[in-house]
Amino acid sequence: MASVGIIGSGTWGTALGILLYGNGHQVEIWSAFDSEAEALRSTRLHPNLGEVKIPKEIGITTDLKSAMEEKDLLVLAVPSVFARETARKMKPWLKKGQLITNVAKGIEEDTLMTLSQQIEEELPEAEVTVLSGPSHAEEVSRGLPTTCVAGAHKKETAEYVQSLFMSQVFRVYTSPDMQGIEVGGALKNVIALAAGIADGLGFGDNTKAALITRGIAEITRLGMAMGGKMETFAGLTGIGDLIVTCASMHSRNRRAGILIGQGLSMEEAMKEVKMVVEGVYSAKAALALSKKYNVSMPIVEQVNAVLFDSVSAREAVTELMLRDRRAENSGLVWEQE
Ligand SMILES: NC(=O)c1ccc[n+]([C@@H]2O[C@H](COP(=O)([O-])OP(=O)(O)OC[C@H]3O[C@@H](n4cnc5c(N)ncnc54)[C@H](O)[C@@H]3O)[C@@H](O)[C@H]2O)c1
Repeated sequence: MASVGIIGSGTWGTALGILLYGNGHQVEIWSAFDSEAEALRSTRLHPNLGEVKIPKEIGITTDLKSAMEEKDLLVLAVPSVFARETARKMKPWLKKGQLITNVAKGIEEDTLMTLSQQIEEELPEAEVTVLSGPSHAEEVSRGLPTTCVAGAHKKETAEYVQSLFMSQVFRVYTSPDMQGIEVGGALKNVIALAAGIADGLGFGDNTKAALITRGIAEITRLGMAMGGKMETFAGLTGIGDLIVTCASMHSRNRRAGILIGQGLSMEEAMKEVKMVVEGVYSAKAALALSKKYNVSMPIVEQVNAVLFDSVSAREAVTELMLRDRRAENSGLVWEQE
């Protein structure tokens, strides 16, 4: 049995707390807000997880020291925009070599750093790992079969994280490619916005398949330029997570996209979804990265144009459809030129 502190009492942190408790571990969840902690403690329900009960043995606290003290693992589960400030808050109580698994997905807009890079910068004494994959909290909390990947610099560490999370309904693979895992996890949110916009415009399955396939091509091009591995983008944290995010109504990015496709502005859509729509932040970062690494990302460009430049969703689609003609894969060789 391990002792685990979950830093962040959002939908995902709570679902993972329930999973880890079910695996026999001792779990304490930290919330940034007294009112939220109190509501979770008194109702034992999370507003986004329906009737799934939070076992009474799971501690819920706003005392960061208590959530971090004597823990074998800290799971960082705050939305990506709060990852750096939360890591900073954790510093006073961090023990040397503390194992941290980041489960949020995003790229920092100003620095273009992945979340594990931000955490490593703020907490150089920690051993930072990631857990990612096609895993909606709503389904994990109900015990529906799910797969994820634990990424770490060291094999032994990845295998330890795997051993803590793995269960009959939650299968965990290991990987040394943290960069690939994190780039895939952050950028799929941007493509999910595009998939939602297409749904909102009333387009069909052909369009969705096109966005998923060309979307992973963009993510792979950029991710490899950033040091990620091709195999990762073809795996659970790449195409796997992209498929689930573009297809599922659990995806807040897709839901926000649908509203934008139906004519709402980005701000109106974010208000309506009532959760942090990370794709909106990652869209800007993805565009900046595509420029930095000189990688073509037409879908990312058009999502940015719709979100920030008042281009209509329909105009953006036409722009994508009428780009210069090209081969599907420029790496393939013709028998005859
Ligand atoms: N929900 C999922 O199914 C799921 C699955 C995999 C990964 N993730 C990732 O996990 C991360 C968290 O997602 P979520 O679904 O739990 O989000 P959420 O919208 O449910 O989380 C909101 C929570 O963020 C916390 N918060 C708000 N302001 C804060 C602050 N200033 N400092 C610290 N915490 C603050 C609050 O506790 C709030 O409840 C995201 O990066 C998301 O992409 C989510």
